[in-house]
Amino acid sequence: MLRVEGLSASYGTVEILHDLDLHIGRGKVVGLVGANAAGKSTLMYSLAGLRTSCRGAITLEHERIEELPAYERVSKGLVLVPERRRLFPFMTVFENLEVGAYPAAARQVRAQTFESVFALLPVLAERRSQVAGSLSGGEQQMLAIGRALMAKPRVLLLDEPTEGLAPIYVKRVFDLIEDLRRTGLTILVVEQSVHHVLRVADHAYVMENGRIVMQGGGADLLKDERLKVAYLGL
Ligand SMILES: Nc1ncnc2c1ncn2[C@@H]1O[C@H](COP(=O)(O)OP(=O)(O)O)[C@@H](O)[C@H]1O
Ligand SMILES: [Mg+2]
Repeated sequence: MLRVEGLSASYGTVEILHDLDLHIGRGKVVGLVGANAAGKSTLMYSLAGLRTSCRGAITLEHERIEELPAYERVSKGLVLVPERRRLFPFMTVFENLEVGAYPAAARQVRAQTFESVFALLPVLAERRSQVAGSLSGGEQQMLAIGRALMAKPRVLLLDEPTEGLAPIYVKRVFDLIEDLRRTGLTILVVEQSVHHVLRVADHAYVMENGRIVMQGGGADLLKDERLKVAYLGL
């Protein structure tokens, strides 16, 4: 569904990502883990067409998209939920969701999408008239994901969706990922909770200093001694 070949990315003259290859199968949940500053968010922004300057190929289904601006990648179904959520705090829940449906195709089916997002995330229906900034951290994350779903993604990029959340919401985010997987959505998720993400991921990549240093099935990586020592602190 999403293939990345030879991707390098820079901020100005500083190269952060070096020659990455990744492959995300249709309907799969793929995890991306690695220490702070490894380049995980830089990869997510590069896929979304934001911030970085890149070399390499990004193929969404059968189409090359690396030259497309960010909004066109969204229209094609590649949608990022960025780290720290980036909601519009003074707009209501409903308005934040409305903004998510900006691609033309998504706008046409907005009413139905609202229904399915509210069914999936009932808390957003309950709080639809409340301003986003007044929600709890967990609710804000649900809203950030809901807003991304309003764009009708085929591939969802989640950058640290459980960062700073209470344990109850961490569980809810992972339950939601399972629910979304059942709808056929393809998901790439960056996570600090390595244990959690490896348990749900079909496949996972480990990043270090802008390179992929390990990959494998989630369950296999969970058992891997090197990963345990380097990232799990066991
Ligand atoms: N806007 C930016 N300009 C310059 N350097 C940046 C910028 N954003 C991140 N970096 C640098 O890129 C590296 C990777 O950062 P990041 O992708 O945020 O890592 P991670 O998400 O894995 O913690 C870090 O060394 C960071 O300081
Ligand atoms: Mg990050």
